[in-house]
Amino acid sequence: MCSLGALMRIVALGLVLMSFAGQSYGHLQYGFYKGKCTVRHKDNIVEKIVAKEVRKAYRKDNSIVAALLRLQFHDCFVNGCDASILLDGNNTEKTAFPNQSVRGYDLIDTIKKRLERVCPEIVSCADIIAIATRDAISLATLLTRAGKPWKFNVQTGRRDGKVSNASNTVDLPPSTISVKDSIKLFQKKGLNATDMVFLLGGHTVGVTHCFFIQNRLYNFKNTTKPDPTMNPTLVRALRRRCPQRRSSGNNTINLDQNRFSSLTVDNSYYKQLLLNKGILQFDQDLASDRRTKNAVKLIAKSTYEEFNINFAQAIVKMQAVDVITDPKKGQIRRSCRAVTPYEWYALNMMSRDVEWLDMSSTLSSQI
Ligand SMILES: *[C@@H]1O[C@H](CO)[C@@H](O)[C@H](O)[C@H]1NC(C)=O
Ligand SMILES: *[C@@H]1O[C@H](CO)[C@@H](O)[C@H](O)[C@H]1NC(C)=O
Ligand SMILES: *[C@@H]1O[C@H](CO)[C@@H](O)[C@H](O)[C@H]1NC(C)=O
Ligand SMILES: *[C@@H]1O[C@H](CO)[C@@H](O)[C@H](O)[C@H]1NC(C)=O
Ligand SMILES: *[C@@H]1O[C@H](CO)[C@@H](O)[C@H](O)[C@H]1NC(C)=O
Ligand SMILES: *[C@@H]1O[C@H](CO)[C@@H](O)[C@H](O)[C@H]1NC(C)=O
Repeated sequence: MCSLGALMRIVALGLVLMSFAGQSYGHLQYGFYKGKCTVRHKDNIVEKIVAKEVRKAYRKDNSIVAALLRLQFHDCFVNGCDASILLDGNNTEKTAFPNQSVRGYDLIDTIKKRLERVCPEIVSCADIIAIATRDAISLATLLTRAGKPWKFNVQTGRRDGKVSNASNTVDLPPSTISVKDSIKLFQKKGLNATDMVFLLGGHTVGVTHCFFIQNRLYNFKNTTKPDPTMNPTLVRALRRRCPQRRSSGNNTINLDQNRFSSLTVDNSYYKQLLLNKGILQFDQDLASDRRTKNAVKLIAKSTYEEFNINFAQAIVKMQAVDVITDPKKGQIRRSCRAVTPYEWYALNMMSRDVEWLDMSSTLSSQI
């Protein structure tokens, strides 16, 4: 929760912040870095640096929004939101098959470098992912009715994990998963079916490749016909985009077929599902499965504000999956790509002590 003073400052900055008062997952907090990284009497430097770099990346390539959403999801679903997906090495998470199309590593590196310069070893890579994902969502969300950016509060206080193992990626849902099995997977992470449906709202800015929908267009369940549940006009359009030649496999398809909003975070993806214009089989199944269809209908009908608040809530809940907050169990990495070895910590602490001792001996000799 933020104090009234902080709230006033935030309003003065012209941002809309939603604070989910009273909700706190694990030991995460809103405003964990308050007072921990102050430069020239300015606080909230951490969020400012992240916001600036995300904005730069977004201006260069707005698909960074989908990239960060995917990065965040893959991190949280494998071993918790502990930045384990960022670790380089043989057989780490990012080398596993489902890593394909996970992007955004360079942006996280850039942010981390800038933060290390002002506040070394203060901000975890796991928190950087969380803040950056929020900022990217905000950039892709329409302004509020008052013309301000729509920006929600994220919790911080995560520490970085020390383990990253490709074999743990079994928890990532394959593109062919059924709604029933997907709900089970989300439940394993403490997320319910409604949370799942909201989180899939991320597909509103997502893309897929022809390769993944070829069967729906040409040979659905070996019928040599397209998927009968797909809108026939859409089938024709997609067949032009994805001709049966192999070479079209990499062509991209927007998951939200409303061409005016395929780069906007909004509920239009759900509206498309109700028109049988879901691209992935899984997406379309959400609108027909008895476990999720009511949620899809409600979200499609919801207002812009309702959707933004509920989507944000689902993201904040996902960002709390199996986080590490205990300093004994996690660390603040120096580079997001590598675990900081224990020896380095020990040496660093020692050299800081030496510096301090030197200073005091200089002082005493002067006296
Ligand atoms: C990865 O494996 C190769 C060959 O086994 C080895 O030379 C290299 O040092 C390993 N890299 C890391 C980061 O462990
Ligand atoms: C993703 O995994 C594949 C193996 O499936 C590997 O060849 C590729 O280098 C990985 N990508 C990254 C960014 O590590
Ligand atoms: C990764 O996980 C597998 C299966 O749980 C295990 O056999 C392997 O030892 C693990 N590798 C590392 C480096 O921890
Ligand atoms: C799912 O969790 C949300 C909070 O994240 C809660 O508001 C909602 O009632 C839950 N839905 C069900 C069906 O349990
Ligand atoms: C479709 O047909 C192919 C070849 O005839 C067969 O190998 C495959 O198992 C069939 N797939 C399904 C889903 O029936
Ligand atoms: C898709 O792109 C990858 C890498 O850019 C390439 O290796 C692969 O052959 C392409 N696939 C098709 C079907 O064109």
